[in-house]
Amino acid sequence: MSTTTLSDNKTAIATDFLPLYGTDYIEFYVGNAKQAAHFYKTAFGFESLAYAGPETGIMDKVSYVISQNKLTFVLTTPLRSDNLIADHIYKHGDGVKVIALKVDDAKSAFDETTKRGGKEYMKPVVLKDNSGEVVLSGIHTYGDTVHIFVERKNYKGVFMPGFREWKSNYKPESTGLLYVDHCVGNVGWNQMNPWVKFYEEVMGFKNILSFDDKDISTEYSALMSKVMSNGNGYVKFPINEPAEGKKKSQVEEYLDFYNGEGVQHVAIATNDIVATVTELQKRGIEFLNIPASYYETVLDRVGKIDEDLAPLQKLGVLIDRDDEGYLLQIFSKPLEDRPTLFFEIIQRKGAQSFGKGNFKALFEALEREQDARGNL
Ligand code: FE2
Repeated sequence: MSTTTLSDNKTAIATDFLPLYGTDYIEFYVGNAKQAAHFYKTAFGFESLAYAGPETGIMDKVSYVISQNKLTFVLTTPLRSDNLIADHIYKHGDGVKVIALKVDDAKSAFDETTKRGGKEYMKPVVLKDNSGEVVLSGIHTYGDTVHIFVERKNYKGVFMPGFREWKSNYKPESTGLLYVDHCVGNVGWNQMNPWVKFYEEVMGFKNILSFDDKDISTEYSALMSKVMSNGNGYVKFPINEPAEGKKKSQVEEYLDFYNGEGVQHVAIATNDIVATVTELQKRGIEFLNIPASYYETVLDRVGKIDEDLAPLQKLGVLIDRDDEGYLLQIFSKPLEDRPTLFFEIIQRKGAQSFGKGNFKALFEALEREQDARGNL
């Protein structure tokens, strides 16, 4: 059965035991944070924000914090081998370790989630410096991924205690990236529903959309997906699992190369996808190729849109419509050599859904890439 109804989640807000105010930051564990920071600044237009490492009293790792509008990335690398971060990179390659969520009360977030079965990652800890205090706590989610709850209402500094401001004369222009729209997790066979239950029971999320393998299949491969949203809709986590098809699902390829469950893609919002993607392509970011045939029929499916079709086709931007409006979206190729994490760039024009009408074109494009790697 396929259901595609967006539920009304307004009633959930009043009883929300875990009020979230969006994504605070995403932390990537990477093999070389200095170079990764340069890549994200140069190609995606992030600015230098903060730094932690031996110079700030952290002896076993370095972290570079970069930001663009409401988007904050932390890039962390271990300085030695006998280190959990080094183990993480050995196992998974570069990838997302932390999806940090903004809260008013990190202790309450920890108490409420752990009492509902959330597995402790970090007990509440108060970090202080001259700019005030930040309270952090954290729980585990799928794979080795974690959620950290960040309470920064009493902090005036650039990022958090332990970090110093990172001033840099190298300031590439912004590409118009605004904030995290959603973060997608890939989980193993038969693991989607247990993780849906985790987000429902432990974090108070609702399942707002479901896609079965009839919705998301091509001639060769299939997957299933459920979209989880918190009460106010600021935080949305689609969860994918592979489904049986003639060939290997893209989710299986991810699980093989990430060596387990993890974040498949981070979707980042823009107000002008044509300008953003034009700039990203100019700076060397590669996106999935969409065949010309997609654009021959897309307007029959989605109806009138404000944009000219030609620039969207030139860039490979996909279009979809739901009851509330339409959306424009495009998917990068993996950002690492392992075919694991990629980004989506999305511009919503009313639509609150995730581009169901594009799944087939998108997955066929992914399969061509998968086939070229010999993994289909
Ligand atoms: Fe997405």
